[in-house]
Amino acid sequence: MLEIDELAINYDQVEAVRKVSIAVGAGEMVALIGANGAGKTTVLHSVMGLLKPKAGTIRLKGENIVGAPSKRILDLGVALVPEGRQLFGHLSVLENLEVGYARKFGIRFDRAGFEGRVAKIDAYFPRIRERLKQTSGTLSGGEQQMVAIARALMSDPDILLLDEPSLGLSPIMMDTVLDLLVQLHGEGMAILLVEQNARAALRISERAYVLDSGVTTLNGRARALLRDPRVQQAYLGL
Ligand SMILES: Nc1ncnc2c1ncn2[C@@H]1O[C@H](COP(=O)(O)OP(=O)(O)OP(=O)(O)O)[C@@H](O)[C@H]1O
Ligand SMILES: [Mg+2]
Repeated sequence: MLEIDELAINYDQVEAVRKVSIAVGAGEMVALIGANGAGKTTVLHSVMGLLKPKAGTIRLKGENIVGAPSKRILDLGVALVPEGRQLFGHLSVLENLEVGYARKFGIRFDRAGFEGRVAKIDAYFPRIRERLKQTSGTLSGGEQQMVAIARALMSDPDILLLDEPSLGLSPIMMDTVLDLLVQLHGEGMAILLVEQNARAALRISERAYVLDSGVTTLNGRARALLRDPRVQQAYLGL
């Protein structure tokens, strides 16, 4: 599904990502863990076509997408749930979903198609179902995260990139969000999950990569990494 090979990305002179290789198979759930500033967001932004790498390749379903416009990447079935949710806080929940839909289908999208898509994902989001008219900035943090995920799902992706979805949430809301990811994965969605909460991410993922100062240094089965002393010391506080 997604194959990142020897990726390097600079911001002007700053080397943010030096050597990143990550693969996510169809329907696979993979975690990317790393400290603040390790380059996690940078990697996701480059996959989405928001940043142009200095070196390396990014393949989606076999197609090299380095330099491709974001719309092409969206059309290939990738959707990003950005760090900090990035909802349009003054717009209603429904309007935020419309933005997600319009990204793929254009601003003159077919209303019936949109409503069909909302109905299709409705079951995942019991807490926001009754809040479609509410201004999204007035939702709780967890509800906003749900809307951010719902907005990403509007384009009917095959792979979902999530940037710290649990950040700032209460433990209960964190579980709700992570349970939703497990459910989506169970229904065939490929997921690349960026998390600072390494323990939670490793518990629900099949495989994982550790990103250390712009380099993917370790990878393996998530369960094995949970027991790896290097991971335990640096990321699990053990
Ligand atoms: N727009 C930018 N201009 C210059 N440097 C940047 C920019 N964005 C990020 N960086 C730098 O690139 C490096 C990687 O940043 P990035 O945001 O990808 O890390 P991260 O792993 O997502 O961190 P966090 O866990 O805090 O979200 C950092 O050193 C950061 O300061
Ligand atoms: Mg980040």
